[in-house]
Amino acid sequence: MAPKWQELADRLAAQIRRGDFAPGQHLPHIRELVAAGEGSKATVHAAYKALEAQGLVTPSRGRGTIVRPNSPVKPIHLVGKRVVLREFTREDVDDVLAIIGDDKVTTWLSFDSRDRAQAVSMIEGAIERASQEPRTEFYLGVTKHDDDRVIGFVRIGLSGVQAGKLGYAIAAKEWGRGYATDAARTLVTYAFKELALHRITAAIGPENAASIAMAQQLGFTREGVLRDHVLTNGAWRDSVLYSVLAHEWSK
Ligand SMILES: CC(C)(COP(=O)(O)OP(=O)(O)OC[C@H]1O[C@@H](n2cnc3c(N)ncnc32)[C@H](O)[C@@H]1OP(=O)(O)O)[C@@H](O)C(=O)NCCC(=O)NCCS
Repeated sequence: MAPKWQELADRLAAQIRRGDFAPGQHLPHIRELVAAGEGSKATVHAAYKALEAQGLVTPSRGRGTIVRPNSPVKPIHLVGKRVVLREFTREDVDDVLAIIGDDKVTTWLSFDSRDRAQAVSMIEGAIERASQEPRTEFYLGVTKHDDDRVIGFVRIGLSGVQAGKLGYAIAAKEWGRGYATDAARTLVTYAFKELALHRITAAIGPENAASIAMAQQLGFTREGVLRDHVLTNGAWRDSVLYSVLAHEWSK
C-alpha cells in the first residue's frame, strides 16, 4: 500500500492536472488539510514536496503552496478509442527519449534524433507553451488507456487563420496497433470542435508509407509537394502536403 503522503500527493496531482486549481492559486494551507483529516503535518508537507518535485507547484513563503504558474491554464485530457492524450510532465523524459532518440522514428520527422538534454528541453518547452494565453500549441503525450506512460506524441500548432499543422510519432515498439490513427483522430476532432479550426494540414515525407496511409484513412486530401521542405538527416527533403477542412471531418 502506498504511504499516506503518496496517496494525498497523487490525488492532488490529478486535481491539478484536471484543472481544479487555476495557475497561481494557492493550494489549501497545510493546517487545513490536517484539520480535514488528511494526515499529520508531516504527511501533508511530504505530499506538497512531492508535487513540487513533479513541477506542479512552486513553494511560496508564508501561505501554503501555489500552483506552478506555467502549468497549462486548462490541462487537456482527451480519451480516444485506443489512446488517451494528456499534457506532458517532467517525468515523461525517459519515455519521450525512447521516441525522439530513436533513428527509426526520427528518420521520418523534420528533426534528427535527440539526446536526453534535448528531450528535457522539448518537454520544458511544451509545458511552457501550454501555459500561454491564448494557447497556440497543443502538443500532447499519447498513452494507452490502462497505462499512463507516454508511447507517442501528437501535436497541432496553430498557424494562419483558423488553421493548424498536425504532427505525430509513436514509439517504434508500438507501431501498427492503430495508436497514431486514433491519436490524430482525437486531436483533430478536438481542434475542429473546441478550437474552431477550419483547416488542418500534415506535411509528410513522400516515402513515409505509414503516415500517408494514415492521412488517407483519416480522409485528408493530397494537395501537392512542398519542395526541399525540411532539412533532416543531413539532406533536404520534400514533403507531401495533406489537408482536411472542418466541413469534411466526420470522424
Ligand atoms: C507514422 C506512425 C506515427 C504511425 O503510427 P502507428 O501507430 O503505427 O499507426 P497506425 O497503427 O495507426 O497505422 C496507420 C496506418 O499505417 C499503415 N502502416 C503501418 N506501417 C506501415 C508501413 N510500414 N507501410 C505501409 N503502411 C503502414 C497501417 O496499416 C495503417 O493504415 P490502415 O489503417 O489503412 O491499415 C509511426 O509509423 C511513426 O511514429 N513513424 C515515425 C514518425 C512519423 O513518421 N511521423 C509522422 C511524420 S509526418
